[in-house]
Amino acid sequence: MNSMLDRFRLDGQVAIITGSGRGIGAAIALAFADAGADVVISARTASEMEDTAAKVRTRGRRALVVPCDVLDAGQRAALVERGLAEFGRLDILVNNAGGWGPQPALQTSDEDFEACFRFNVTTAFSLSRICVPHMVRTAGKGAIVNISSMAGHHPQPGFVAYGVGKAAMSWMTQELAQEFAPKVRVNAIGVGATRTTALTNFMNDEMERVMNERTPLGRLGDPEDVAACALYLASPAAAYVTGEVVGVHGGITTSQVSMPRAAI
Ligand SMILES: NC(=O)c1ccc[n+]([C@@H]2O[C@H](COP(=O)([O-])OP(=O)(O)OC[C@H]3O[C@@H](n4cnc5c(N)ncnc54)[C@H](OP(=O)(O)O)[C@@H]3O)[C@@H](O)[C@H]2O)c1
Repeated sequence: MNSMLDRFRLDGQVAIITGSGRGIGAAIALAFADAGADVVISARTASEMEDTAAKVRTRGRRALVVPCDVLDAGQRAALVERGLAEFGRLDILVNNAGGWGPQPALQTSDEDFEACFRFNVTTAFSLSRICVPHMVRTAGKGAIVNISSMAGHHPQPGFVAYGVGKAAMSWMTQELAQEFAPKVRVNAIGVGATRTTALTNFMNDEMERVMNERTPLGRLGDPEDVAACALYLASPAAAYVTGEVVGVHGGITTSQVSMPRAAI
């Protein structure tokens, strides 16, 4: 008798995960390996990628390290090509590399705004476009998981570049889900404040206290909270789910951080 838990397995599948040297991307790589997938680890810092890859291998799965700055079109194409050359198939793409710090609107140049959009949206669009035909050709189907943010759902001062970028990523998820159905499912995770270096680099104790207080579940997220959702969305357990932005944010209904309004 098959167990319901079998639907969460990824045995024989291959996943490309961008930004998987540390933080959320690394946690997703380990979750996928736990579920039986081989993974392509990519980011820019070699030591961190090797660290994630070693942890994948201790789980009995294969890991291929491919350095890739997602902002470089040639490196994006090479990432997919090297993954296919090594594993011969592609089932899952996780568009995780992204981010942008808080930046007051009047101090956000046009170039900053476009750079943030390119980092969070265009790179994910480009990789999706490259991967989908290979998924269908080599695996007959596929799943894309986009790592979005509640910053794209809760408007707040200081986050115009990042918020617009992640809102666009969430909308792109819904658009591509319509277009790539029924063979390729496309979902996103609306991530809330999660304990990674991207957050802790600018968080102090007082900020954390306020963020915990504003979060109904009373704490920041851990990368593994997001990884568990990514595993669900990538796996056959979510075979009838596409075009969703699933929140993993402790129940917030508004912003967790307070930045000043413009002094105008
Ligand atoms: N942490 C949060 O509170 C939070 C909340 C909402 C959404 N998110 C989203 O979650 C995703 C992951 O963030 P995180 O918190 O895990 O960040 P993180 O801990 O800083 O990790 C980011 C990963 O992406 C890689 N990366 C950065 N720039 C890259 C580039 N140009 N090309 C390829 N890889 C790159 C980094 O490695 P290298 O620097 O070596 O390249 C690292 O492996 C982002 O999309 C972020 O917007 C995070």
